[in-house]
Amino acid sequence: MSCEKAYITTPIYYVNDIAHIGHAYTTIIADTLARYSRLAGMETFFLTGTDEHGQKIAEAAKRKGETTQAYANKISATFKDLWDDFDISYDKFIRTTDEEHMQGVQKAFSTMHKNGDIYKDTYKGHYCISCETFFPSIQLVDDEFCPECGKSTTIVEEESYFFRLSSYEDKLLAWYADTPDCILPRSKKNEVIRFVESGLQDLSITRTSFDWGVKLPEDMNDPKHVMYVWLDALMNYVTALGYGTDDKNMDFWPARVQLIGKDILRFHAIYWPAFLMSLGLPLPKHIAAHGWWTRDGEKMSKSKGNVVNPKEVADAYGLDNFRYFMLREVPFGGDGDFSQKALIDRINSDLGNDLGNLLNRVIGMSGKYFEGKVDSSNVAKYYQTELDEVHVSLDKLEPLLYEMQIHRYLEELWRPLTVANRAIDKYEPWNLIKNGKEEEAMALNGLISAILAKVSVMLYPVMPKVCTKIADALHFTIDNVSFEKLGKGTSLLEPFTLTKIDPLFPRIEEPLLTQIEPEDKKSVTQKAKETKVETTEGIALIGIDQFFQTSLKVGTVVKAEEVEKSKKLLLLQVDVGESEPRQVVAGIKEWYSVDDMLNTQVCVVANLKPAKLMGMLSQGMLLAAKDENGLCMIRPEKTKLAGTPIG
Ligand code: MSP
Repeated sequence: MSCEKAYITTPIYYVNDIAHIGHAYTTIIADTLARYSRLAGMETFFLTGTDEHGQKIAEAAKRKGETTQAYANKISATFKDLWDDFDISYDKFIRTTDEEHMQGVQKAFSTMHKNGDIYKDTYKGHYCISCETFFPSIQLVDDEFCPECGKSTTIVEEESYFFRLSSYEDKLLAWYADTPDCILPRSKKNEVIRFVESGLQDLSITRTSFDWGVKLPEDMNDPKHVMYVWLDALMNYVTALGYGTDDKNMDFWPARVQLIGKDILRFHAIYWPAFLMSLGLPLPKHIAAHGWWTRDGEKMSKSKGNVVNPKEVADAYGLDNFRYFMLREVPFGGDGDFSQKALIDRINSDLGNDLGNLLNRVIGMSGKYFEGKVDSSNVAKYYQTELDEVHVSLDKLEPLLYEMQIHRYLEELWRPLTVANRAIDKYEPWNLIKNGKEEEAMALNGLISAILAKVSVMLYPVMPKVCTKIADALHFTIDNVSFEKLGKGTSLLEPFTLTKIDPLFPRIEEPLLTQIEPEDKKSVTQKAKETKVETTEGIALIGIDQFFQTSLKVGTVVKAEEVEKSKKLLLLQVDVGESEPRQVVAGIKEWYSVDDMLNTQVCVVANLKPAKLMGMLSQGMLLAAKDENGLCMIRPEKTKLAGTPIG
């Protein structure tokens, strides 16, 4: 047993929206890691909670006609209720409106100020309320729209306190260089490094144009300022441990793993460590960024109306099955399209055929030949080769989990099940009995039971309820002791009498949720591979490998219209060789008329995530070149079939 401490965090969720499967995904991964750490004997603290300040929340409450606090209370409770319903094993649920949290944030502000990292100036620039982020004009789309979510930005000019982020460039780069695994998957770290290398600007960390936020510490004597929501929010990871108040659990810091989605990597991999350095606190051991759950290639979000409700899915298909599916289906860091078909395949195949059937087989075998008794005494005598194979797989598991390769952890965990199923087919217990080899048959019974026990100990962090049922049937308990002996060690089960249980994974023939649109026939993994595009998070520099991830195609403009009230935009329908033309909103009106564009050919970036411009969906981008004399389209020299790839 180790007495190491493990602090595991999820992001805190905005309360402008109820939870969808993207939020459930982050929380379920963190819960799995927390359960594993506890099983491995680590003293574990698992934090989740809600992010309740900022303009976005204030505006959402206003739209609902509620006070901001009442609105935040209501939505925060829906998150907490969902996690309780999902049996998420959090140790603390923090709210940024908690008094202790706000005190801690003020303490942090004072400390950074004392350390010379905060100064007052005027901020002038563009702010996206939806992303709660400032953007330099160079990053805006059409000089106005947010490069992250496509929504219109607001020009802000106000007095503000700034954090000297620029002075942390070298220290951040040194941290990335010295700690190879500080950001996982490692490919994501390169994006961050390129961003920091391109130069960091100081960060505006207070606002004066609204008041729904943490006030500055009193000794600043500046009551009109409230803290920038990301400073407030990021601090939750230490205020939850008592930073700035009683410091009660600060010995859990630094975090072992901070789990986030890739969209908030910049905040966690740049701002957060810089804040911590300023406060003189150690940096987290790992920041792990997962990909997005999408519907038809688009990030799931309520504003796009494409969300899948995690509770409905878990209620219909079983919570543990849903947990297994999410963690097994998509490689950590990659995107995945949600589909009921893929979920059903996983349940019927991996869970039903490989795991559930094995349990049924051993229940059947021991019931028929041995009155339910299982004795492992002679397993090594007859089946050492199989045991060795099983232990080779089990030994590989922990490093995979620590590298956040959870899908590979599960893949590897399935190998012992294959060994077990193969052993039954190969040694045919019914023939062993027929030929009087009872000892060998009983040993086979012991082997299969031991494999099931070992797998269920190591699967417990992902499927706690199902594995507890298997352990009950096999008369052992999943705890630190069985983890060491059965999961990591080579022990087998003590003699016992099997308890019959109902099949764990009844076969599912049809999708159970009719309100989710029917899926296409491709598997999720296949689709994810096709649609996966690494975001550059506003980073200008890319490597050649990333360039080749861009799909460029020749397109023919089959329809062109003006966009009312826009001086810049044309609305185009562009045939790129697919069943339907793509709608592209292009900022070219100053240089091209509708007639200039109609029936001409263009070059289209065809695998950009769709974005909304002035409320219209844009499903691609046209290549063009712009200098002081204006803009010109890049077009193929000769007419080519619509959809012809470029490159
Ligand atoms: N409040 C901030 C986080 C502050 S942490 C100091 C925030 N909140 S959020 O509610 O918008 O998102 C929380 C988490 O959910 C993020 O990690 C985000 O990546 C994740 N997801 C939101 N939509 C998602 C998908 N469609 N798929 C997977 N995860 C996604 O950001």
